[in-house]
Amino acid sequence: MMEHGALRPVQDGEPVPLLTLQGVTVYYGRVRALQGLTLEVLPGEVVALLGGNGAGKSTTLRAVSGLVRPASGHIRFRGQELTRLDPAAIVRLGVAHCPEGRKLFPEMTVLENLELGAYVRAGRLDEDLRQIFDLFPVLRERRHQLAGSLSGGEQQMLAIGRALMVRPTLLLLDEPTMGLAPAMVVEVARAIRVLRARGTTVLLVEQNVQVALRLADRGYVLENGRVVVEGRAEALARDDRVRRAYLGG
Ligand SMILES: Nc1ncnc2c1ncn2[C@@H]1O[C@H](COP(=O)(O)OP(=O)(O)OP(=O)(O)O)[C@@H](O)[C@H]1O
Ligand SMILES: [Mg+2]
Repeated sequence: MMEHGALRPVQDGEPVPLLTLQGVTVYYGRVRALQGLTLEVLPGEVVALLGGNGAGKSTTLRAVSGLVRPASGHIRFRGQELTRLDPAAIVRLGVAHCPEGRKLFPEMTVLENLELGAYVRAGRLDEDLRQIFDLFPVLRERRHQLAGSLSGGEQQMLAIGRALMVRPTLLLLDEPTMGLAPAMVVEVARAIRVLRARGTTVLLVEQNVQVALRLADRGYVLENGRVVVEGRAEALARDDRVRRAYLGG
């Protein structure tokens, strides 16, 4: 694996967060999508971002990956300020973003889409491809097929695979199970568990709150660009507000 520099020494027995957002505010024109958002992700965690449509979940991921620039606040990855870096520099630090809607190149093959995922680094890709094909065997079978001809679930696997070509320390996943049949949801969830077991840290946006809270260590519920509830996944699954809003009471 690529080295991204050593972590700061741990103080007072507290784990050093891998990612910290502190008072992050983001505008789209006059729309304030994030209003002083604060959260942290510890190394090795899967953290779920929950909340209704328009709550600011995708914007949070876009702010981390440099696709939108906060008007105020700080975003630090391994202690390094990201808010002034461009997206390519952030990818090079080991942050990969698998966006909402997958954003594949439909007229290119599976293999070409995967190779593009590695655009920020040099060197051989065989070992990365092998690992991704082991994780999603269907992609190996279809490696010469056009991405646009894959099923929805296969496209989602490809989108995750392309993000993994970055060899990310932190993987940002936006709605990976959106629109998928139950069997495909299970496949994607299995892949996230494998990645977690390999030590990849995941910030996961998921509309399927049951799936999210089964996968995640902790979660944050966003409303109007702010955190309104946070806690361990088990506690969130029992929380009345979360149950009423997302789990059908
Ligand atoms: N490109 C844009 N231009 C203008 N407003 C935007 C843009 N993208 C998002 N917004 C607004 O910012 C707010 C947060 O949007 P965001 O996409 O982050 O929400 P979300 O929680 O991901 O929602 P969803 O569950 O529907 O994907 C919403 O009010 C949305 O309308
Ligand atoms: Mg979204």
